[in-house]
Amino acid sequence: MADILDWTSANLDTLDGATHEARAGEMAARLVEQTGSGELPFLTMSYMAGLKQQLSNLKDYLKGFDHMLLLGIGGSALGARALQKAFFPQQDQPGHNGPSLWIADNVDAYALESYLATLPAEKTVIVTISKSGGTIETVGQYFIFKEWAQKKLGDEWNRHMLLITDEEEGFLRTEADRNTIKTLPVPDNLGGRYSVLSAVGLIPALFLGIDIDSLIDGARDVVAPLIDPTLTGQTLSRHPSFQLATWAASLLDKGFDEMIFFAYIPLWASFGDWFAQLWAESLGKEGKGSQPVPAIGVTDQHSVNQMFMDGIRNKACLFLTCPTLPAGPRFPNDLPDQFDYVRGKNFGELIQAEGLGNRMALSQNGVPLVELSMGDDGPKQAGKLIALLGAATILTGWLMGINPLDQPAVELGKRLAKARMNADGLEEEKADMDAFLSADRDTREF
Ligand code: PA5
Repeated sequence: MADILDWTSANLDTLDGATHEARAGEMAARLVEQTGSGELPFLTMSYMAGLKQQLSNLKDYLKGFDHMLLLGIGGSALGARALQKAFFPQQDQPGHNGPSLWIADNVDAYALESYLATLPAEKTVIVTISKSGGTIETVGQYFIFKEWAQKKLGDEWNRHMLLITDEEEGFLRTEADRNTIKTLPVPDNLGGRYSVLSAVGLIPALFLGIDIDSLIDGARDVVAPLIDPTLTGQTLSRHPSFQLATWAASLLDKGFDEMIFFAYIPLWASFGDWFAQLWAESLGKEGKGSQPVPAIGVTDQHSVNQMFMDGIRNKACLFLTCPTLPAGPRFPNDLPDQFDYVRGKNFGELIQAEGLGNRMALSQNGVPLVELSMGDDGPKQAGKLIALLGAATILTGWLMGINPLDQPAVELGKRLAKARMNADGLEEEKADMDAFLSADRDTREF
């Protein structure tokens, strides 16, 4: 079954997409220039041949472990979790006794204590992922697990470590060189949220036995026209990523400043969190952008859906479906009359009916909506989705006139936290914090 974008309910006739569509030639030229100069490895995947070789070299090594503990945050964790939840659901199900991936992507002392107390060191590989090599949430956990591994494993500790970081710079690179730790690179110009199809997402996927070749093939299918050096505006204007981008940009012009990602493929729910980071960190700039809102079909029909349907009319929606989800068990015949309508039907028919019903209701309530209907829910389709949404995000940012590849505004909070921990060289931040803390507080007990 084909993968389809259904634009029927996108409200294209009420949006002024023409100004954005007219920029296809300019955008195509920019793609040609930046893919040619190596600035967009997310699209070219120029690192892939080398990476595949490295992954194949590591396959047997990874098989020697039962547990992988991934230390990373943001783009260094969200893609791995989406792949894990989509293609290795057995870890969350009763009776699991295969490999286990644990993702430590927060400053959560409770979780950390539990990993320290229960993971068997001899059977655990600790994968630390940080492009910059200096993110305190990640490197802080690395320090703790380094000490743990040294105590438990003695001289063998470094064999249980794998570092995924910048090829040349940063603390983790130095650490790897100093301690002879295995490493894999995060390629230049590949920011965290665009890195799931590099070692960042593929090492955990390989460990779990996910079909990474299909993931990559799916992504390649989508990006192939975009990295063609002869790309023209005409070709780009037919590409779904550009069509999504012009839609997203024209939605912003009309005040639709929230973008729901409604996933009616339950196992793919964590792609909502991956998308949210991609969309928010890429597009939330200079007072512009739309707030991503991940939602899970059908669970969130009983939660945030009321707001989607009848709250502020500022929401658009990417609606993810798959008509070939498993049918599941059949409802029993012996049912009370009031549930007669499901007698003899499969459980899986319910999600299709509810998806259709909610999609139609959103549309009738004025939510512009594009349905992404995946022909099946395998890794190839996930690769296609990753590439499509990543490319659409980059193009939307370009149409908005912002840089979709950086995230400068998140730095202030990090600097202030470091100042609070008394890091050197942050005198201004320390003074600001002292002023903030010594100002009159309005506190009320409850
Ligand atoms: O998308 C991004 O670039 C960020 O969210 C990063 O992934 C996140 O801040 C972690 O950075 P690093 O991989 O350098 O530790």
